[in-house]
Amino acid sequence: MATAWTPTSWHNHPAGQQPAWPDDGDLERALKQIEGFPPLVFAGEARSLQAGLAQVAAGNAFLLQAGDCAESFEDFSANSIREKLRVILQMAVVLMYSMGVPVVKVGRIAGQFAKPRSSPTEMIGDDEIPAFRGHIVNDPAPTAAARIPTADRLVQAYHQSASTLNLLRAFTKGGFASLDRVHAWTQEFVSSSPEGRRYEQVATDIERALQFMSACGMDVESNAGLREVDIYTSHEALLLGYETALTRQDSTTGGWYDCSAHMLWIGERTRELDGAHVEFLRGVGNPIGCKVGPSTTATDVLQLCDVLNPARIPGRLTLISRMGAEHVEARLRPLLRTVADAGHPVVWTCDPMHGNTYTAPNGRKTRHFDSIMREIEGFVSAHRAENTWPGGIHVELTGENVTECLGGADAVSDSDLDHRYETVCDPRLNGRQALELAFRTAELIRANQPI
Ligand code: PEP
Ligand code: CO
Repeated sequence: MATAWTPTSWHNHPAGQQPAWPDDGDLERALKQIEGFPPLVFAGEARSLQAGLAQVAAGNAFLLQAGDCAESFEDFSANSIREKLRVILQMAVVLMYSMGVPVVKVGRIAGQFAKPRSSPTEMIGDDEIPAFRGHIVNDPAPTAAARIPTADRLVQAYHQSASTLNLLRAFTKGGFASLDRVHAWTQEFVSSSPEGRRYEQVATDIERALQFMSACGMDVESNAGLREVDIYTSHEALLLGYETALTRQDSTTGGWYDCSAHMLWIGERTRELDGAHVEFLRGVGNPIGCKVGPSTTATDVLQLCDVLNPARIPGRLTLISRMGAEHVEARLRPLLRTVADAGHPVVWTCDPMHGNTYTAPNGRKTRHFDSIMREIEGFVSAHRAENTWPGGIHVELTGENVTECLGGADAVSDSDLDHRYETVCDPRLNGRQALELAFRTAELIRANQPI
């Protein structure tokens, strides 16, 4: 790993999970086109996120990373982006208000298209066809023709990311996310639920606090910290050709940044130390994440820290634990200890989704809200035992009233799954389940804080 890094040095390493593009010429043309497009984010923004994450690593802030498992070319509208933003803002308010620390908000959005697969093919009846790899690669329809990778999709993903980001910037800087609108973020289907009413109480308290500050003579109206929020973007850096095409040299520092998103992460299936994904991300200046699943050893995690963050920059590396509810406490504790003993300033965050997925009797992929909560509980207990900071959560959600994850306060059941199952990949929390998760997570962490 001591060899020099360049944006293409990953070509000398084995790259897992890359689509079998049928035509090299088409692929090259698409990537060349993207190379000529403007960056989606700027290096300075990535550095601001890294500064926020440094606060998380130090135990002074909390990370909320949330959004789709896979964004869709079909479900793409101002409405769906706004609904997702609403639920993320609500969760952030609940976490911030209950825990009393800043919440760094990162969406799985504006570029979260490519999916790693456990198997490169799937059986449809008697036919074995290529797996769906996300709308950036192929079409989910269950035919061999639909599953052929199409390079034009890379260009379409870029454009959809740009429009999504544009709208996010408008919503977050243009008044929609202002704290004095905290009541307006609740959707109808949420407001009537117990967690919705609980949220209304928090919102009313915040409104009162703002009135109080205003009465004290503070300029609440023009305070940017109250009127605007920063929502950063992130996705799994899976398709290395696409990521390279958006990797640019920063004119201020001379460093290389992957300008497809503020934060990029390495998935559970592509985190081999000598693999192309680790090679690529070790050289970009963005804050990066790495999933850490149940097979990860203490040696693995230490080597990943050394390669991905040799300079030990706080906020540079986020380790995203996704162990499964059964094992999280036992498996995570030795990793926490090893990383802390080595003095690596990482952010530890909990993905309670990907270790708890199973197929329901009707064939739908799902997750139970109780397992999701149990994984967060185990994560928090492990940190409590090792005296480290449970720095955040990483969840898949939508603002819509879908029925993809089981359980929660309104007890979504097996037989409800077909009702509104809309995800193009993994099951997501609906708006109510997401809000309930935020309340319960904040309570768990508060209860675990030393007095
Ligand atoms: C994901 O985050 O959607 C994902 C595929 O996760 P993992 O790499 O942890 O399986
Ligand atoms: Co997923």
